[in-house]
Amino acid sequence: MRAFRYERPTTLCEAIGLLERHGSNARLLAGGTDLIIGLRDRTETASVLVDLKHVAELRPAIDAREGVLRIAATSVMTDVAADLRVRDRFVALAEAAAVVGSVQIRNRATIGGNLCNASPAADTATPLLVYGAIVVAAGAGGTRRIPIDELFVRSGQTTLRHAEIVTAVELPLAAMPVGTVHLRRTRRRGHDLASVTLSCSVDGHGVTRIAYGSVGPRPVLAVDESGALADPASSDEARDAILERMLGAAAPSPRSMRASPEYRLAMLRVLARRAVAIARDRLAERTRQEQPAMAAGREPGPPAGTSDERDAEPLPAAPRTPRPVAFGRGSGAEAPLPISMVVNGRERHLEVAPRRTLLDVLRDDLGLTGAKECCLVGECGACTVAMDGRTVDACLVLAVEADGADVRTVEGLAEGGRLSRLQEAFLEKGAAQCGYCIPGQLMSARALLDLDPHPTVAAVEEGLAGNLCRCGGYRQIAEAVLGVAEEEAR
Ligand SMILES: Cc1cc2nc3c(=O)[nH]c(=O)nc-3n(C[C@H](O)[C@H](O)[C@H](O)COP(=O)(O)OP(=O)(O)OC[C@H]3O[C@@H](n4cnc5c(N)ncnc54)[C@H](O)[C@@H]3O)c2cc1C
Ligand code: FES
Ligand code: FES
Repeated sequence: MRAFRYERPTTLCEAIGLLERHGSNARLLAGGTDLIIGLRDRTETASVLVDLKHVAELRPAIDAREGVLRIAATSVMTDVAADLRVRDRFVALAEAAAVVGSVQIRNRATIGGNLCNASPAADTATPLLVYGAIVVAAGAGGTRRIPIDELFVRSGQTTLRHAEIVTAVELPLAAMPVGTVHLRRTRRRGHDLASVTLSCSVDGHGVTRIAYGSVGPRPVLAVDESGALADPASSDEARDAILERMLGAAAPSPRSMRASPEYRLAMLRVLARRAVAIARDRLAERTRQEQPAMAAGREPGPPAGTSDERDAEPLPAAPRTPRPVAFGRGSGAEAPLPISMVVNGRERHLEVAPRRTLLDVLRDDLGLTGAKECCLVGECGACTVAMDGRTVDACLVLAVEADGADVRTVEGLAEGGRLSRLQEAFLEKGAAQCGYCIPGQLMSARALLDLDPHPTVAAVEEGLAGNLCRCGGYRQIAEAVLGVAEEEAR
């Protein structure tokens, strides 16, 4: 990876100042799932990284107040997908956040990074377009509120100004019931960037909003106010004619390797028809549920509060509170920085160059070679470790980002010199074949069982989707995990 200077500001003002000072050489680091890959393959030329994770004003949070749901830009997909208010009132956004990459990617990828990276395939872009989100950006000149359909220019380019930082995304809480859905088409099961993404909403006035991505240089929003799409009595021909008009801005690139333009356009129409039908059904269901609340003059949906109070499911430790900065305000490109981590229960103090990853340091400095180096792009999960209770791809985490973290590797699974029950089950079921993927599979399986002690087969498939096995031992791996779940339930 190319060398860079690492900065760790603790206030928004400081972060903006760093961007101003370093100009086009500086890049914000949020979850790093796009940025670190870019630095590694040298498509990203930044020489200064400004880490947002210790900026006090940017603490990850989701709040509902005064008719608006506010999602801090640093909120990760895992938390967006699990938040009760998002799941209840912004179903399409919850669905989109839940399909971004794998568990390991969702534990790091932020909603702000997803928008600012401006990929036409960004999953959260289309639901946010449908909901009419406002993107809040802070810069030296103050705060701007940008309607999201004015944010995207083309792949990798937004209308953000120099030294502006997205601080939050705001979603208006609709007063009337709305039915919404997010759909996507990928090349394969498991995690993959979408060949087509599409979100749709239908409201009680018959207004249908459709946003679609991955079929042109930027995601597109189209609105139909005729009421015909929302009307179940409309003919298929009438509906198709409206959809054809709404989808008219699609212009997929013939150069993409993911799917041909013809395929994308055909799938776009299929998804649009399907999405309108689902959104209409959800609107009907929602209207039935909300009628008693509305008649009693109450706000529909769960009451206001912060995500800390209202997480839908028990999740492992939320992103940690920033600890005191161990080193000055930044580093020279190659100068090692002091970091401290607890690794498998043991305190470790190290000096690391900013460009070294957590994987490098675990393997080369600490001799913990269980986590494997393989794809280095977050695809295979062979490098999976747990960081503050959540699995991450250690190849996409800088070691300096792990300063203050509690890290667990596969070496930490054994207890008192004996393999854990999960490890034994992998051996008994013949899940470990060549063994290259097994440390990562074990870490993901342990995290899954800690979160969901009674997983279904589908939950195991989803929980392990970020771990590829070249030997194809998936059946045995799933059997081992389900077997241990049964034992632990006894
Ligand atoms: C294996 C894999 C699978 C993936 N699958 C999907 C998928 O299915 N769907 C999908 O949509 N994406 C997917 N992604 C892409 C990626 O995970 C998302 O785009 C992610 O949300 C980016 O967020 P981040 O916090 O990691 O951003 P970073 O990588 O930290 O930053 C991305 C860019 O945004 C800028 N930036 C970050 N935060 C801000 C801010 N607050 N203000 C201004 N600029 C900012 C950074 O400077 C950088 O240029 C995948 C990535 C990988 C590696
Ligand atoms: S995901 Fe890290 S090496 Fe493949
Ligand atoms: S056991 Fe060989 S790669 Fe999984």
